[in-house]
Amino acid sequence: MSILIKNGTIVTDEGIIDADIFAEGELISAIGKDLSCDADRIVDATKRLVMPGGIDVHTHLELPVGDIVSSDDFETGTRAAAFGGTTSIIDFPTQLRGQSLMEAYDVWRAKAQKATIDYGFHMIIADVSGNQLDEIDELVAEGITSFKVFTAYPDRLMIDDEALQKIMVRVGRQGGIVAVHAENEASIAPLVKKALAEGRKSPLNHALTRPASSEAEAVARVIALARIADAPIYIVHVTCAEALAEIARARREWPKIFGETCPHYLFLTKDDLDRPSFEGAKYVLTPPLRETRDHDALWNGLCAGDLQVVSTDHCPFMFETQKKRGIDDFTKIPNGGPGIENRLQLLYHFGVNKKRISVREWVDLVATNPAKIFGLYPRKGTLKVGGDADIVMWNPDQMYTISAKSHHMRVDYSMFEGFEVRGNAETVISRGEIIVEKNQWFGRTGRGRFLKRARFDASVMM
Ligand code: URP
Ligand code: ZN
Ligand code: ZN
Repeated sequence: MSILIKNGTIVTDEGIIDADIFAEGELISAIGKDLSCDADRIVDATKRLVMPGGIDVHTHLELPVGDIVSSDDFETGTRAAAFGGTTSIIDFPTQLRGQSLMEAYDVWRAKAQKATIDYGFHMIIADVSGNQLDEIDELVAEGITSFKVFTAYPDRLMIDDEALQKIMVRVGRQGGIVAVHAENEASIAPLVKKALAEGRKSPLNHALTRPASSEAEAVARVIALARIADAPIYIVHVTCAEALAEIARARREWPKIFGETCPHYLFLTKDDLDRPSFEGAKYVLTPPLRETRDHDALWNGLCAGDLQVVSTDHCPFMFETQKKRGIDDFTKIPNGGPGIENRLQLLYHFGVNKKRISVREWVDLVATNPAKIFGLYPRKGTLKVGGDADIVMWNPDQMYTISAKSHHMRVDYSMFEGFEVRGNAETVISRGEIIVEKNQWFGRTGRGRFLKRARFDASVMM
């Protein structure tokens, strides 16, 4: 199969050019003006942006939390991602305490057999009391070159500073990168206990018991530990000005610190947790939504380069059957929200259309920087001869209203219900195959491939 994309405006990290792209098989074989090739399919991209497929490096598909499971699996979640212009994800195999990392990897490999787009894994480490540190070496050799740790969620995932330091040293030595969910649990636990004792059990209390300073303290601490270990670090889901300030300050002295935020932290606030009829539970995710002033700080962080990525932390739970478990107690609401489908639209509309970021910065945030930080560049995250033909034709003029009635995610609500955006993915190509065209699905279950990723390379980010 070969596809010739003609007359588009190609946007990559290397610049913006009016040119054609020719994809043969799974790869890009030519980029240039007025290409004339013998193609099986010619697609006219007049007035369209032609960009690398989006890369969402923070998703939780089919994630078990206690006795429930996040509602999108690798089939439904990756299909929804593709409708939104994302052609690769990195999900999180999650080690259960006492389990070997290889077992967790096997479990996720089995789930991911259904993926419709390419996928990599960051390994979540919750316990290093066995030979898990040695397994880090094995996983890096397998192409799992990033590892995630938590300084919160004491029941399942939290590790202490000693374990964190050991992991950082080992991952750093192996040439990997450590991703951290940073919140100070010691300060959160008593606030939760107090809220429950006082009978404050509504969803809003989720936000009130997890203050911004808890996040900032943990961010500062894990950065200090990473510097001691000399391990590159990636702070996931940065929510607030205080945490961002810690990153920005530290980056000036030691540049191996990277960070992401997510659309919900740019567009929603803790007031959403106070919606009536328990609707606030739809917005219970961790760390919590913050204040409007944090939106401005995060946009500034993205523009200044202190945050390099926008991911989704897609972790959907059904409102009716899963979120409502916490109707009498906010601590029982499963944490997480959906978003894998809407990342590019939201960031394009509120970023590019509203002139907060340029179109090139948009591509950097949703595709190029994720590829660079996580060992996928230049195979993905850009458009180059010899690279994977993961290509999105973006219609900058298409109006689109986000709604659970029309989205493809397997979840019964949208955090962005009714948001009107201009700009949408029109044709989505994954390794040379058109999988979405004009809102129709042409992909196949199981066509996604595991991405064996390279080690972290600081020079790529320069
Ligand atoms: O609330 C969230 N974010 N759930 C998913 C797990 C995590 O903390 O990233
Ligand atoms: Zn997290
Ligand atoms: Zn997450």
